[in-house]
Parts: sequence; C-alpha cells; structure tokens
Amino acid sequence: MSPMCQYSATDGFANDWHLVHYGSRAVGGSAAIIQEATAVCPEGRISYGDLGIWKDEHITKLSEIADFVSKNGAIPGIQLAHAGRKASCDLAWNGGGQLKEDRNSWTTVSASAIPFYEADNSPVELSKVQIEKIIDDFALAAQRAVKAGYKIIEIHAAHGYLIHQFLSPLTNKRNDEYGGTFENRIRLILKIVDAIALLMNEDHSLWVRISATDWTEGGWSVEESAKLTGLLKGRGVDVIDVSSGGNIPHVKIPVGKSYQVPFAEKIKKQTGIITGAVGLIDDAQQAEDILAKGQADLIFIGRELLRDAYFPLHAAQKLNNDIEWKNQYIRVKQSI
Ligand SMILES: Cc1cc2nc3c(=O)[nH]c(=O)nc-3n(C[C@H](O)[C@H](O)[C@H](O)COP(=O)(O)O)c2cc1C
Repeated sequence: MSPMCQYSATDGFANDWHLVHYGSRAVGGSAAIIQEATAVCPEGRISYGDLGIWKDEHITKLSEIADFVSKNGAIPGIQLAHAGRKASCDLAWNGGGQLKEDRNSWTTVSASAIPFYEADNSPVELSKVQIEKIIDDFALAAQRAVKAGYKIIEIHAAHGYLIHQFLSPLTNKRNDEYGGTFENRIRLILKIVDAIALLMNEDHSLWVRISATDWTEGGWSVEESAKLTGLLKGRGVDVIDVSSGGNIPHVKIPVGKSYQVPFAEKIKKQTGIITGAVGLIDDAQQAEDILAKGQADLIFIGRELLRDAYFPLHAAQKLNNDIEWKNQYIRVKQSI
C-alpha cells in the first residue's frame, strides 16, 4: 500500500480511523503497508490533520496500528516526512491551499525562501543549525517508529516536500554546503539516511521515496536520481520507491497508466537496487506484467486501495493465485 495522507489526526495523534483504515488493508491482503506521511516535527506537517511522530506520546496508538497490521499478515511501514514550504495547508477536502494567519497555520521553512505558489507566504530559509535539528528530528522519529513496531521506515524525499526542495536546483538556491552542486544538494538526504541507518537491525528495512524528475528543464532529473540511488544503496537503503513531480507547480506531466514505471526500470537497471513502481497501476495483470518484465520489484498501490481495501485478494483471484484469507472470511473465499 502506497502512503496516503488521511488528514484525520489531532496534534499528530493517530486514532481509531487510522487503526481501522490500515487494519482493513492488512485484512484485505496487502503485503506491506506504508503508513501516510508522518511528520517528524509539527512544522513538517502538510496540514494540521497530518499524523506525527515528534513526541513519545505518539507511540502508543501507532504501536497499536503496527501491531494489528502485523498480526493480520502485512508488514507495517511508516513514511517519515517534512513538508518544508508545502506545509501549513488546509485539509484536502477543504481545498488544501496554504493557510495564512489562521489558528491552524504556521511559518514554513525550506532550502531557500521561494514559495511554491507565487501567492503563498514565502518560506524561511533554514539556517545550518536548523538543518541539524531537522536531521535529529528524523533520527528521533525513526527511533520512535522502531519502538512502535514498524518494520519498514520510508523517508519521504519526493513530491516537492522538504528533502526534494533541497535536491532540486530550482528550489535550492543556497550558497553553502547544502546548495549548488549535486554533492551539496544531496547532503541533507545523505545525512538523514546515515542517522537512520544506524538504528536499523536485521528486522528493519530502510526505503526512500523519490521523485525521479521535476518534469521541468533545469530541474531534478532521472540521471541525478540514479546517481543518488547508487549512493543511497551504499549507505544502507534497501528499496527505492520511484514516484515523480510535485516540486514545481503547473508543469506538464504525461499522466497515464504506468507512466512512472520507466523511471523505476531505469534506476533499477543502473543501480541494481530493489525498486518499487507506483502511479496508475490499478489492475492485477498490469502489476504482474511490470514484475514479470523485471521493470520493478515491488508494486505500490495507492488510490485503488482506497476504492477497494480487498484489492490484493481480488487481484490474486484474477491471477489464479491462492493467497491466504483471514479465517473469519474464509467461508466466502470461493464465492466472490
Ligand atoms: C489521498 C492521497 C494521499 C496521498 N498521500 C501521500 C503521502 O502521504 N505520501 C506520499 O508519498 N504519497 C502520497 N500520495 C501519493 C500516493 O502514494 C501515490 O504515489 C499516488 O496516488 C499514485 O499512485 P496511484 O495511482 O496508485 O494512486 C497520496 C495520494 C492520495 C490519493
């Protein structure tokens, strides 16, 4: 299951919505569940309804979710995130626009003081001390995630959120060691990975979601993504989850079935890392073909799993695969 924000938390705390939502997908046969973007600090939330993992008190409910998911056959994973300049937004169903001078708004931060939309409040450029704090926040969040029982830790470095803002030359105009050259722009993600890799043992897997391209001239590119992936692989990252876009508004993206798969394929071929494909993969045979052709090793399913929590059970049936159903539902396994 691909990570998908639910905008249903209060002060970062998970509740029964999250337990039932993720629990249902475990019962529905998902092999692994990457919980939605979970903020490493309050200002790192996209909206005030985002999940958080910036204090120990968050662990109790999260561990209930990880435990239920695990007991029902799925590997529990969590996506650790900081939204940077795309933080302080309204809930998606209220339009998702930036909130300004609202009781639910705050000042955003980024690599450079460039707003996402022109009309947005400008983010504040992070100082080096503030960057160090964010690296610590990611490490502490990972520590709490491990404590809560998550087995997959995915770092969100995609979709124009903070780490991606550092990666892309279009959003990172810094003159210090975090900006300019490729080596400088990737420094933040490497430091975060180094801090988190230390906390992993053989029970854990470290994944990174990237946007393979900004879809814009002069932006972050597939070539840079492959180069970065090679370095991440050498530093303990097990899986690269390949998405695209989200950093620059109004760009033309040729959205269609499997449209991001060629990026996953290229990165896999070039680096040999285990690669996940995502984006408009919503059919069993389509997913199977991607795996059979060796274009990717894992399939992330997003929206189809919101439409149908039992998609993996239905997909297995379509492909004539016999997969386990929960005992409570076994009487109806043959009759759908
Ligand atoms: C409601 C919703 C929330 C999402 N939230 C996240 C998120 O928290 N983190 C993330 O990396 N992607 C997020 N995404 C993107 C999905 O994980 C996925 O990459 C995207 O929907 C494309 O896959 P699909 O065509 O299978 O839906 C979200 C998508 C949706 C529809």
